[in-house]
Amino acid sequence: MSRFGPDPQAFFNAVYQAAAPWDIGAPQPAMAALLGKYPPADPVLDLGCGSGDLVIYLAQLGHRVLGIDFVETAVEDARAKIRALSPEAAGLLRFQAADALELSRLGEKFGAVVDSDFYHLFDPDQCDRLIDEIASILHPKGCYYMHEFDIAFPVPNVPRQVSADEIRARFTAERGWRIREIQSVEFLSRIADPAPAICACIERLAAPQANSSPIDQV
Ligand SMILES: C[S@@+](CC[C@H](N)C(=O)[O-])C[C@H]1O[C@@H](n2cnc3c(N)ncnc32)[C@H](O)[C@@H]1O
Repeated sequence: MSRFGPDPQAFFNAVYQAAAPWDIGAPQPAMAALLGKYPPADPVLDLGCGSGDLVIYLAQLGHRVLGIDFVETAVEDARAKIRALSPEAAGLLRFQAADALELSRLGEKFGAVVDSDFYHLFDPDQCDRLIDEIASILHPKGCYYMHEFDIAFPVPNVPRQVSADEIRARFTAERGWRIREIQSVEFLSRIADPAPAICACIERLAAPQANSSPIDQV
């Protein structure tokens, strides 16, 4: 069972009937900074794009971007924002209703995958599947960018804590990953003070390697 009940899609559908608490009208600043430090290769895929601000930000920087979310209302909200964009930016982005746990069904490969508060929605067994799916659609040398909660809340229906140790344990050279950087950052919301969060930039290797590679910085 998901952390969000037997029907997580219904849970998120209900959240989007009002302004979602994570919808700050802009990308998470720490994610934007990470993308500035490690510029993504195109095309970029945004997992659980919500109302689309990170996709729009990347398109305005000149990237080709696809944002996917399984909530139709979120995708419609995102598409409605396209009208305010320049023709150049509008021509670079797409939004699609899709399940981000079934990325191979998209039938496309990507130069980068961005994940702004998506991975932390899932318990560890589901994250195994998510990482396999990401690996299946990411070009070698492409990067996976994460921004997740690094705090545990003792209430139901909230994301889980993601630690630097978990990221190091999952994204190993033996499994075909190289961690470029892990940072302690903040999660901003519309409804509460900033919360502790973690950001990472993780490169997909051309092939699994026997030895673990060092992390650039923690
Ligand atoms: C915490 S919100 C983050 C939204 C956006 N990335 C942001 O930073 O504002 C998580 C998003 O993931 C979406 N989501 C959850 N599970 C999903 C799934 N299996 N496939 C696609 N989208 C999903 C939710 O609908 C929601 O929009």
